[in-house]
Amino acid sequence: MDHPHYPLLFSSYETNGMALPNRIVLPAMVTRLPGVDGFVNQDTSDRYVRYAKGEPGLIVVEATAVNDSKSGQLLRLGSDEFIAGHREMVKRMHDISPSKVSLQIIHFLKIARGGWRQTVDMLTTEDIQSIIRGYGATAARTRAAGYDVVELHMAHAYTLASFLSARNRRSDEYGGKSLETRLRMMSEVIVEVRRQVGADYPVGVRFDGEECIKDGYGLSDSKFIALRMAQLGVDYISVSAGGKFEDAVKKEGAPLDPYTGYSGDRAMPPATYQLGVNVYLAESLKSFINAHGYHTPVVTAGRITTAQQGEDILQAGKADLIGMARALLADPDLPKKTRAGREDTIVRCLYTNICKQLEENYKPVRCGNLWPRGHLHAPEADGDHEPPRWPTDGGLNIALRDSGQLRLTWEGAMASGGMYGYEVFCSINGGPFAHLTSSKTCTHVHEQALAGNRYAYFVRPYDLAGNRGPQSNTAEIIITPGFEAPPDGRLALDGKVVTLQ
Ligand SMILES: Cc1cc2nc3c(=O)[nH]c(=O)nc-3n(C[C@H](O)[C@H](O)[C@H](O)COP(=O)(O)O)c2cc1C
Ligand code: SF4
Repeated sequence: MDHPHYPLLFSSYETNGMALPNRIVLPAMVTRLPGVDGFVNQDTSDRYVRYAKGEPGLIVVEATAVNDSKSGQLLRLGSDEFIAGHREMVKRMHDISPSKVSLQIIHFLKIARGGWRQTVDMLTTEDIQSIIRGYGATAARTRAAGYDVVELHMAHAYTLASFLSARNRRSDEYGGKSLETRLRMMSEVIVEVRRQVGADYPVGVRFDGEECIKDGYGLSDSKFIALRMAQLGVDYISVSAGGKFEDAVKKEGAPLDPYTGYSGDRAMPPATYQLGVNVYLAESLKSFINAHGYHTPVVTAGRITTAQQGEDILQAGKADLIGMARALLADPDLPKKTRAGREDTIVRCLYTNICKQLEENYKPVRCGNLWPRGHLHAPEADGDHEPPRWPTDGGLNIALRDSGQLRLTWEGAMASGGMYGYEVFCSINGGPFAHLTSSKTCTHVHEQALAGNRYAYFVRPYDLAGNRGPQSNTAEIIITPGFEAPPDGRLALDGKVVTLQ
């Protein structure tokens, strides 16, 4: 499995007897494909089989309720009747792929449309004991269903995260009196889960390295939380951030959504955030537990977009495993294409979060940005090796809008197996061309284009099989400032549009 450019990313990795074929992890992503009954249905199973075809090292199946009550388009495993559907899906995945499969299990509290929500201080000690038993029993069902590992969801806005939170307002032994009392619930859950699944079955956890809310915890607490997790013998620690109710934006008549505020952005960072925005959390936690003699694998995630970025993180020792959620939603074949040296055929996530909006609105989660209309899953068209072609030269044209932005248009390309989209490349002031965006239509508005600079573009079409067509003509523009520029000539003043061959 070794790779000449990405030797660590494509090296196998073992934790508690589970051998991952490579170090790419698909973190849990709710699909909204299950019905309200919570059973694994055909669409849900097909989505995970599609991920498995791309062969990441580990696939974490979406948050699945340990609660034994209706939970609205969320998978459930709170009783034995749900096991068969999971077992069938996992078998389909294992039959076609070397990927290992984890199930993220979650408990959540009640929430009402009017804005009210149950908080951990409203739970009785008996409620707490029943949640702990629920985690243990659901973990045992996870093993029975054939999953390779169970992941305990302790991140974001849900019950276990709310016990860990610095905003935990309980005043008893499970309460916010001290870090020790905040850690008690998760500690008892891990012990019970281990009792139920046995020592030889991998148990992972996911938690926030930082809550990203006012008065929430940060690294000064989370390093000790991670240490306790390692001391309790978990087999991986997946580090997320934010996703809290406390700063959620209220929407009339809708229940609070924990991904609508700043902390929600930190959980699913949009394109405005820097690449690898949350890696520093994994890095600090890893170095802290390592310094205390624990080598529990640490997973990082958050705008990790390419194999190179993942390899660099591994080479620098900042994490052990690389989470790529939306990048693998946009193109589940990213690991397989990279390993085969076909990186130029990857469909790259733009971090526009249309998938996140679909999730928030209880609509089937898909890549609304890039996938062709009508596709419920990422396109695949094996066996088609004929690249798309332009009717002429691509006909790329640039128009300068009154707002100062540039509007690019080009002609539609043709492909025998069906067109998918277009990649737009841009060079600024004579620099190298780099991927700017992708589009499924024949137009793009370059919003960040600024006066006084010279922009050159070309476009490449790609088809459903990922074949790339030829470059279009190159179009170039120098934008004249709409204000009186200093006479030193450093801001370009010539607004002429040139089309190069
Ligand atoms: C549509 C959607 C659903 C998600 N559902 C979950 C989930 O069920 N459990 C979880 O821990 N994180 C969930 N996440 C967060 C991702 O696992 C991941 O941490 C986040 O998207 C940042 O990684 P990325 O930049 O590689 O996408 C979800 C993210 C998205 C976009
Ligand atoms: S909609 Fe598609 S491109 Fe946008 S963030 Fe989601 S996966 Fe990426």
